[in-house]
Amino acid sequence: MILSIESSCDDSSIAITQIKTKKLLFHKKISQDLQHSKFGGVVPELAARLHTQALPKILQEVTEYFPYIKAIAVTTKPGLSVTLIEGIMMAKALSITLNVPIIEVNHLIGHIYSLFIQKDTLFPQCVLLVSGGHTQIIQANGYDQFEKIASTMDDSFGESFDKVAKMLNLGYPGGPIVEQYAQKGDENRFNFTTPLLNSPKIAFSYSGLKNQVRLQIAKIQNLSNQDKYDICASFQKVATAHLLHKLKKVFQKKDIKDFAIVGGASANLYLRDKIQTLCDEFDIKLHLAPLEYCSDNAAMIGRYGIEAYINTKKTAP
Ligand code: KG4
Ligand code: ZN
Repeated sequence: MILSIESSCDDSSIAITQIKTKKLLFHKKISQDLQHSKFGGVVPELAARLHTQALPKILQEVTEYFPYIKAIAVTTKPGLSVTLIEGIMMAKALSITLNVPIIEVNHLIGHIYSLFIQKDTLFPQCVLLVSGGHTQIIQANGYDQFEKIASTMDDSFGESFDKVAKMLNLGYPGGPIVEQYAQKGDENRFNFTTPLLNSPKIAFSYSGLKNQVRLQIAKIQNLSNQDKYDICASFQKVATAHLLHKLKKVFQKKDIKDFAIVGGASANLYLRDKIQTLCDEFDIKLHLAPLEYCSDNAAMIGRYGIEAYINTKKTAP
């Protein structure tokens, strides 16, 4: 079995995955949303301190698996250095105690493997990663064969939802709240401009859209709930239209049969629906991770760990 650890941001998570069957045997995650909510974003030192309590707490629940562990998979980058180190220290201690190797996992590749939890891998596949830290289109050709096709020039898709929520005092993480507010709003009330509409570049940019929202909020005195719903709906429409516009260019250029959306923001149902329609237009099959594995978790880290273990036949610490 592989024991996997995730602590790249504000989720403490540990999973146990069976190598032979690729089955997830145990998965637990303790999120810190409540503790960071009043700050409107993640406070790194607070997050690190909370990991020091949560990770050992979860680890106590998996001691029965210790005799069967063949490797420890841990997220080593990218992420907040002060929180990553908490998972890495635990992985090092376990590696020495259990005399097993450590598998270093890139968090972004981990998100791609969220598609394969309890499933076989499927390559090649073109993937849109939309999270709090990243917005990228990645061509995934096989185990550890990844090519970045596009990325954001400034803010990420998820981050722009967090910032709009902060401007409207809706709490953190902003994505799910903005999506809920948008469901009650008129997406055509405010005409925000789609970023990079006239640029041939296949790249993303969200800081300008965030600024448009900020200026719009400043224009309205005493924001009513309906104003907030309409702002969220109009923002979500344009944030998504920007992704669709650039994705369409990629679909026109490349011969794609399988396409996937991963990352925390891939839980957004409006986005899923719009991308499904675009995929139908191009006769592309859309793949999605189960909703519970879209945001950060150790199950996806463990799933990559299995492939790394098999492909590199890690044996010594
Ligand atoms: O992948 P993830 O859990 O952490 C990172 O690797 O960053 O993604 C978290 C991000 C946050 O910015 C959060 O607001 C966003 O995903 N998110 C959403 C939704 N659910 C989470 N964004 C838009 N709509 C959602 N429903
Ligand atoms: Zn993530």
